[in-house]
Amino acid sequence: MTSPKIKLAPSILSADMARLGEQVAEATVAGADYIHVDVMDGSFVPNITIGPGVVAAIQRYTDLPLDVHLMINEPERHVAQFVQAGASIVTVHVEACPHAHRVLQQIKELGARAGASINPGTPLHALEEVLPELDLALIMSVNPGWGGQKFIESSLDKIARLRNLLDERGLAVELGVDGGITVENAAQVVKAGGRVLVAGSAVFHKGESVAQALGRLRESLKGV
Ligand code: DX5
Ligand code: ZN
Repeated sequence: MTSPKIKLAPSILSADMARLGEQVAEATVAGADYIHVDVMDGSFVPNITIGPGVVAAIQRYTDLPLDVHLMINEPERHVAQFVQAGASIVTVHVEACPHAHRVLQQIKELGARAGASINPGTPLHALEEVLPELDLALIMSVNPGWGGQKFIESSLDKIARLRNLLDERGLAVELGVDGGITVENAAQVVKAGGRVLVAGSAVFHKGESVAQALGRLRESLKGV
């Protein structure tokens, strides 16, 4: 059996923000598949990060798809701005929008790929009805807000249940997993069914280059 193609999506939340363009370029050269951009509003999640201006700026440092993860309330008010700024994938949280189905259509009409995410405390069925609308389903394996948190083990079961649902229905939705992914657990996440691994602190940290860190992550998936 051939191993599934696993995509690595470094999250710039843990990058050195003072050298953001350079770090994005490093991840690109090192063989990342997506650049994951965490947008937080201080309301849906406690932290505040970046907006469309930064998305537009980093676009100049990479030719990879920008995978924009909106951890914001009322995402429908902002998706157009992010697509205009260069987002290839826009992921919204179903907890943040009562009209998730409509927002997903809006993203696709704007010409981007549509993603939906659920927090660790949100049951999988919150995603079920919109699965056919999705390009990416993103399972949060930490409570969103910060990088560097510990992977919540029960996420593995949720990932496996989503993998089954997608396979049973024959849906070609990418299954992403975000939070606490390391060289120690990445293979388990893939075995459970994850296909896009978002990793921040495992990729951008002191003592190792982005290329070395991404290489070690890729290495840990050999034979899975
Ligand atoms: C969490 C963000 C993640 C985060 C992952 O709120 O959505 O994308 O940057 O960081 P690590 O890999 O350090 O858990
Ligand atoms: Zn994220």
